[in-house]
Amino acid sequence: MMIGKVKIPGNILLAPMSNVTNLPFRLMCRKYGASMTYSEMMSSDAVIHGNARTFDRGKSCGNERPFGVQIFGNSPQTISSAALMIEENCNPDIIDLNCGCPAKLLTKDGFGSALLSSPETIHSIINELSETVSTPVTAKIRVLEDMEKTLKIAGLIEDAGASALTVHGRTQQQQYSGSPDIEYAKRIKEELSIPVIVNGDIVDEASAEQALDNTGCDGIMIGRAAMGNPFLFRRISHYLDTGKMLDFQDCEQRILDLREYFMLLEEHKLMHTINVRAHARWFTRGIRNGRHIRNRIAEAGNVDEMLLSIDDMCRDVWR
Ligand SMILES: Cc1cc2nc3c(=O)[nH]c(=O)nc-3n(C[C@H](O)[C@H](O)[C@H](O)COP(=O)(O)O)c2cc1C
Repeated sequence: MMIGKVKIPGNILLAPMSNVTNLPFRLMCRKYGASMTYSEMMSSDAVIHGNARTFDRGKSCGNERPFGVQIFGNSPQTISSAALMIEENCNPDIIDLNCGCPAKLLTKDGFGSALLSSPETIHSIINELSETVSTPVTAKIRVLEDMEKTLKIAGLIEDAGASALTVHGRTQQQQYSGSPDIEYAKRIKEELSIPVIVNGDIVDEASAEQALDNTGCDGIMIGRAAMGNPFLFRRISHYLDTGKMLDFQDCEQRILDLREYFMLLEEHKLMHTINVRAHARWFTRGIRNGRHIRNRIAEAGNVDEMLLSIDDMCRDVWR
């Protein structure tokens, strides 16, 4: 799939997720077959007000191409100025506009999914953004209850110059409840000429295949199911390539991945930026002795002690 001038070497994308898709996590998803990754969202206001730490979210390295940075806001001028600074500081392959986040923190200021109630603002933002930056611009939306209105927004996004669109088939009001309606992605794909990516509740090989087959979309985007489980990209890409399920040891894999994740966090000096307990919980969900290892990690004074407790855990699991 091509997103503007950028070749995406496959059709399985990692979703942008705040407090989750940091550089080490994205590198692991990439290693296991994610065709493209997105950073955690960045506030356009924070970027232009010179909050230096904001750029940490969009930092990448040579092993991670193509990768996208996601931005949120609602002023075309502010977003475009911020995007120029992001281009200069982070050099992403794609800049994505967040039109989907339902969190009050964003919607109260008219950001994220609140933009869906003002299609002309979305059009202006994408229009100005794509004329300002040389990086291809994409957008990620939720849906409205009204199919026709949703199709109209999708059309405006394409018309304004976006190079791809991701559709999460839940409304803002649904938050994460109920099921996503993939009919929206299917209809949008039928109407648009740019690549359309379907997102929402893709959790394994079967749901990945169904999402592609039932919508005709160009790609799938995976969020929550990848948390603590970057290996999911290997499983799904293997299945989509061969039609066969990959033989693997879930517990061992997760522990090895947790170890590698912590080492990468240390290498990129990002350990202090994460909630260690939360991340350890995702990686050790459902694992024998999971609670024990989480407690030991939480009590560890430094990364070496964390790695040691993981090694103890490995011995325990493989004994
Ligand atoms: C912890 C968390 C953080 C998220 N942060 C973002 C974000 O920064 N930008 C965004 O567009 N969506 C964000 N999302 C939404 C996901 O990108 C995705 O659209 C949603 O989780 C549905 O996909 P899934 O069912 O595969 O998880 C977030 C979701 C979660 C669970």
